[in-house]
Amino acid sequence: MPGKKYKCFILCQLLFLGLDLASFTIAEEQFIYSGFSQANLSLDGTATVTPEGLLQLTNGTFNLKGHALYPAPLQFRRHPTGNVQSFSLTFIFSILSALPDKGADGMAFFVSTNKSFSNALPAQYLGLLNDQNNGNTSNHIFAVELDTIQNSEFQDISDNHVGININSLHSVQSRDAGFYDDKNGVFKNLTLISREVMQVWVEYDAGSTQVDVTLAPIKVAKPTRPLVSAIYNLSTVLPGTAYIGFSSATGVINSRYYVLGWSFSMGGTASGIDIRKLPKLPHIGPRPRSKVLKIIMPATIAVSIFVAGALLVLLVRRKLTYTELREDWETEFGPNRFSYKDLFLATEGFKNKNLLGTGGFGKVYKGILPTSKLEVAVKRLSHESRQGTKEFITEIVSIGRLRHRNLVQLLGYCRRKGELFLVYDYMSNGSLEKYLYSEDELSLDWNKRFQIIKGVASCLLYLHEECERVVIHRDIKASNVLLDRELNGRLGDFGLAKSYDHGTDPQTTRVVGTMGYLAPELVRTGKPSPLTDVFAFGTFLLEITCGQRPVKQNAQGDRFMLVDLVLEHWQKGSMMETIDKRLQGNCNIDEACLVLKLGLLCSQPFARSRPSMNHVMLYLNGDMPLPEFTPTDMSLNMLALMENRGSDPSGVSYPQLMTSIGAMSSLSGGR
Ligand SMILES: Nc1ncnc2c1ncn2[C@@H]1O[C@H](COP(=O)(O)OP(=O)(O)O)[C@@H](O)[C@H]1O
Ligand SMILES: *[C@@H]1O[C@H](CO)[C@@H](O)[C@H](O)[C@H]1NC(C)=O
Ligand SMILES: *[C@@H]1O[C@H](CO)[C@@H](O)[C@H](O)[C@H]1NC(C)=O
Ligand SMILES: *[C@@H]1O[C@H](CO)[C@@H](O)[C@H](O)[C@H]1NC(C)=O
Ligand SMILES: *[C@@H]1O[C@H](CO)[C@@H](O)[C@H](O)[C@H]1NC(C)=O
Ligand SMILES: *[C@@H]1O[C@H](CO)[C@@H](O)[C@H](O)[C@H]1NC(C)=O
Ligand SMILES: *[C@@H]1O[C@H](CO)[C@@H](O)[C@H](O)[C@H]1NC(C)=O
Repeated sequence: MPGKKYKCFILCQLLFLGLDLASFTIAEEQFIYSGFSQANLSLDGTATVTPEGLLQLTNGTFNLKGHALYPAPLQFRRHPTGNVQSFSLTFIFSILSALPDKGADGMAFFVSTNKSFSNALPAQYLGLLNDQNNGNTSNHIFAVELDTIQNSEFQDISDNHVGININSLHSVQSRDAGFYDDKNGVFKNLTLISREVMQVWVEYDAGSTQVDVTLAPIKVAKPTRPLVSAIYNLSTVLPGTAYIGFSSATGVINSRYYVLGWSFSMGGTASGIDIRKLPKLPHIGPRPRSKVLKIIMPATIAVSIFVAGALLVLLVRRKLTYTELREDWETEFGPNRFSYKDLFLATEGFKNKNLLGTGGFGKVYKGILPTSKLEVAVKRLSHESRQGTKEFITEIVSIGRLRHRNLVQLLGYCRRKGELFLVYDYMSNGSLEKYLYSEDELSLDWNKRFQIIKGVASCLLYLHEECERVVIHRDIKASNVLLDRELNGRLGDFGLAKSYDHGTDPQTTRVVGTMGYLAPELVRTGKPSPLTDVFAFGTFLLEITCGQRPVKQNAQGDRFMLVDLVLEHWQKGSMMETIDKRLQGNCNIDEACLVLKLGLLCSQPFARSRPSMNHVMLYLNGDMPLPEFTPTDMSLNMLALMENRGSDPSGVSYPQLMTSIGAMSSLSGGR
């Protein structure tokens, strides 16, 4: 037992010693490099290992050479008297030539006994040999060349070939670069200087003394059929130990030779190189697009196109939304013109929540002008016909020039296809009508009502007599009297008003106005005059004092005229009873009766019996007493109108007339 133990010790000692010895003089028999950052290569000339781990044999300068050797010599013969054993290696390389179609000069894998190449020449000598020793058997060099120049002195077959060389640059065997496709056996050309990354396999089989060299692009697995083969007994070339490595040389063309990975095995098959671990090559010429760019670029472009498209759609929509109609003749009205965009923004796109009310002509919206922050009311009318537009706008603009404190100021207009917008001062308390007739609204006391009456009267006086031309309002009624912040009555809605110059006859047009407010002669002749306005004002006076509509209709369809009711009570001496019940006890009876009588006076069927607005003002202010005028006078006048039918071209009686007016109520709806 002890003997056996001793024997083991000796054996272990010997083994250990042997290993120690081997590591001292002869390197391990296989290695693998994926990148050379960790490798301990002996470099000379232009050869360097880049920070990324690339073995750069030449650095691009001309007529230089570079070598990279495995630092220790390898034992190619197991016994000094034995034959060179089988070996296998593979390496991955790439040639980056400054010129895409011209390279210089080439590189080689070599096995050499002499590790110094100081006497070797660059260029076509590939840094391996020189003109003196080329072909001399004392070189002991085996090499595989990747040659990119055709040198006739070495009988090169092309400027793109792979050759097997023994002691000479004249290859024993060579082939154009390429590989046999495993799938169909078809030969595929490769270009060494294509900047592609390629792989070379070199195998020596000691038994058959066959050297096989195979080339393939990096993505292609080792083809089974080698590119070049030669039978050459390397035992006649190589001594016991030799160095292995790479040599490269440049001539006149600037080329860079790179080795990315290298695997070697003595006696066996070289292990595969993990291509994922290979260092990245530097870029030359147009930078190939990275994967990130390949994805991001199209994505960015797509997004940009989408955004641009969306913007375009928005712009076009915006343009369409805000398009206006503008004609040459309108330039003089520039200051009165509003941009549709402003009105659109002011009314928040004519939202229903900004709707103030719907009148006979269209909807009225509240708005706040974007820049001035002025509160306005925008009346939106449809106007289809282009006819008369110019006259109408001219009219509108001239109305806008009127100034009176009891006038709803028309600020301007805007026109679009099929639409017209009138912009007014905003009246925060809305129309008088809603105070007179709606139950829930706080009713106005007499003082307020009298103030409103005087205001409207003074405005009418201004329109009829004080401004530079006669303006007939044509549609005086409670709903057209708007109340401002201080509850001042303001005359509005000039949509219907027609103005004409002093002295000239008013143009006759269709009868316009509202039932109950139409003077008999207006219905008959269709001719509006200041006195037809006075008639309507009379009706308005009765309306505001009595708090009743000028025409009422019961369930049977019978109509009752407010003017008849007041007249009746006056005849009976009970005029006070017609005063609005809501004013009870809180009313100046004298003033109310004055207003009622004045209302009747203005509602006289004969225009010549009505007072002018000038007189109306005087009566209201108490500067002049009402003319002598009895209920009987008025009844007689009505009778006279009825009996006067012979001279009346329309031949309608007063009561008939009043009834017919009722049928005309639709007139107030459309222009
Ligand atoms: N300038 C304004 N300020 C405030 N509200 C207004 C203004 N103009 C009109 N309105 C409101 O819009 C409604 C309709 O107005 P309008 O078209 O003038 O009526 P109509 O045609 O029946 O006289 C009115 O009853 C009023 O409430
Ligand atoms: C290339 O290497 C040579 C020799 O080592 C050196 O003189 C030269 O400056 C290098 N050129 C570049 C571009 O690195
Ligand atoms: C590199 O190899 C040389 C030669 O064999 C040796 O002297 C040196 O110690 C090695 N260096 C490293 C870091 O392995
Ligand atoms: C090796 O090569 C160098 C220069 O190329 C030369 O000086 C030396 O003599 C050579 N050594 C042998 C053993 O041939
Ligand atoms: C080969 O090289 C040896 C040693 O350098 C030299 O003596 C011999 O003459 C050379 N042979 C030829 C043919 O050049
Ligand atoms: C491959 O290269 C050879 C030699 O340069 C040429 O004759 C042949 O046409 C090439 N084949 C293809 C497919 O490019
Ligand atoms: C190779 O050459 C050596 C030495 O010349 C010889 O001993 C050996 O038999 C040869 N091998 C073959 C396979 O021919």
